[in-house]
Amino acid sequence: MKGIILAGGSGTRLYPSTIALCKQLLPIYDKPMIYYPLSVLMLAQIREILLISTPKDTPRFKEIFGNGDWLGIKLDYCIQEKPEGLAQGLSLAESFVQNDEIALILGDNIFYGQGFTPMLESAKDNAQKGFATLFTYRVNEPQHFGVAEIDTEGNVLSLEEKPLEPKSHYIATGLYFYDNQAVEIAKNLAPSPRGEYEITDVNIAYLKMGKLKAQMLGRGFAWLDTGTHDSLIDAGTFVQTIELRQGYKIACLEEIAYHNGWISEAQLLDRVDKLSKSGYGAYLKNLLDSKEPSFRGYYR
Ligand code: TTP
Repeated sequence: MKGIILAGGSGTRLYPSTIALCKQLLPIYDKPMIYYPLSVLMLAQIREILLISTPKDTPRFKEIFGNGDWLGIKLDYCIQEKPEGLAQGLSLAESFVQNDEIALILGDNIFYGQGFTPMLESAKDNAQKGFATLFTYRVNEPQHFGVAEIDTEGNVLSLEEKPLEPKSHYIATGLYFYDNQAVEIAKNLAPSPRGEYEITDVNIAYLKMGKLKAQMLGRGFAWLDTGTHDSLIDAGTFVQTIELRQGYKIACLEEIAYHNGWISEAQLLDRVDKLSKSGYGAYLKNLLDSKEPSFRGYYR
């Protein structure tokens, strides 16, 4: 399975903060926003990842991640000349995806909660069987999102974009798993009235084939998007609260890579040296020094 991160867009709701720098490079507490969606793909055991961004910002992502070697992953880059919609990401990724299944995540989405990894595995399983999977979340005001009606088996029965009368409180978050057909579906879409290639249209194509599933993120789960000034602060405060209270970091990429067995102790030490003046670096050092089983990755 291949991973795609959509880290372009225009970020107009965050103006003037995003005039010179895209939002996915802004910090969420102690790390750039892009770390959070990348951590999700890594938790899903996906090692081949395509990062799609703007002509201006792509070199900045390259500066942070390079070819991904230091995380034990293979990172490729692709430029989206104009933000013409999320589904365009799938068409742009065609030569990268080849015959594989796909996990697509938005660069401004944060997922956090216990039991996430088995959910990711089950979505991967679905993709292998020809299904698409939405990760759905209950929100108070569903009318602002793509709203899914879901049966007790986790099949999506209807999907409506920003409906005036929502059929449920469950909405589609920015994480999607697809089989290989998604690329062909995206390539054949027409732009919507607002002029974008809509990911909802890809999902509706799966719905029409009876192949759209929902993975419901439960009440103990946090899903945050970070597209406005207030949600950016909320997300930063959320991460700070958990990290200071528990002493575990959210979306520490080196930790995931190390526990996945993708990087060696020497590679981790390299990062410790590089980041030694920050709390992030101290955390990495503790991964090597600690005798606690949880930091050694025995129960995660
Ligand atoms: P949005 O939040 O829908 O759009 P935006 O980032 O352009 O922000 P704004 O509404 O404030 O102008 O985008 C969701 C995610 O998808 C975000 O990480 C940016 C990314 N994206 C792309 O990579 N390409 C696109 O064409 C679009 C529309 C979004």
